[in-house]
Amino acid sequence: MNKDKVRITDLATMKAEGRPIAMLTAYDFPFARIFDQAGIDVLLVGDSLGMVVQGADSTLAVTVDEVLYHTRMVARARRRALLVADMPFLSYQVSAENAVLNAGRMLKEGGAEAVKLEGGILIADTVHKLVGFDIPVMGHIGLTPQSIHRMGGHRVQGRRAGHGPGCRERLLEDAAALEAAGAFAIVLEGIPAELAGEITARSGVPTIGIGAGPSCDGQVLVMHDMLGLSESFMPRFAKPYARLWHDAGAATAAYVREVRERAFPAPEHCYRMREA
Ligand code: KIV
Repeated sequence: MNKDKVRITDLATMKAEGRPIAMLTAYDFPFARIFDQAGIDVLLVGDSLGMVVQGADSTLAVTVDEVLYHTRMVARARRRALLVADMPFLSYQVSAENAVLNAGRMLKEGGAEAVKLEGGILIADTVHKLVGFDIPVMGHIGLTPQSIHRMGGHRVQGRRAGHGPGCRERLLEDAAALEAAGAFAIVLEGIPAELAGEITARSGVPTIGIGAGPSCDGQVLVMHDMLGLSESFMPRFAKPYARLWHDAGAATAAYVREVRERAFPAPEHCYRMREA
């Protein structure tokens, strides 16, 4: 039994004690192991994998089987962090029964400890049903990438007053509905920092922000943004703590040069015949 293991219940304690929650996305064994060893609290196998791993321009085409494939790799690497698997577009919207079956696979086949769903009031009944079957749910409101077509792109939400989708008062209602339905935490993505602060202050469950300012109970970044592993675009809210795209390119160019110059392999990289 790993006594350092982060459990669902620990996140509530962290909020109560004012200890920020550090969360990152991960999609494979090596990075998940690096993040876990470095002390990350929550690993999310995000459907962002459609964009940052598969190279698509939205998350919409990601399937349950693809999230499962990556979740299994991350689960093998993880020792301490809480593991959350994202529910892809149309894997939970059609019916609560379908949502239970798909979410259940994330726990049974993927080794996840919780699932994440995008949406607020409209999916509260489904969240309630999942939680009732002991499938812990992390909510996700604000800029929800699965709503890219309704939002007209990846746009900051909550700037306009009102009760329509993505409006200020509606986001407060969405957060309250998710909490009432039993979500154990809520991701706040792409909303003004003041609004995120208000939701966080009213919420009895931890909020985890991405592009939502410093008042949230925790922060999450897509690992490629945190590590500088993107070719060019870096969203305003992200901070690269390394320059892996650049460094990997420089390493590859050095390798290519040494192969062409016959500088690699050097004698120390060669096997020799055994002496007779
Ligand atoms: O899919 C994802 O990576 C996410 C995070 C950005 C929260 O939903």
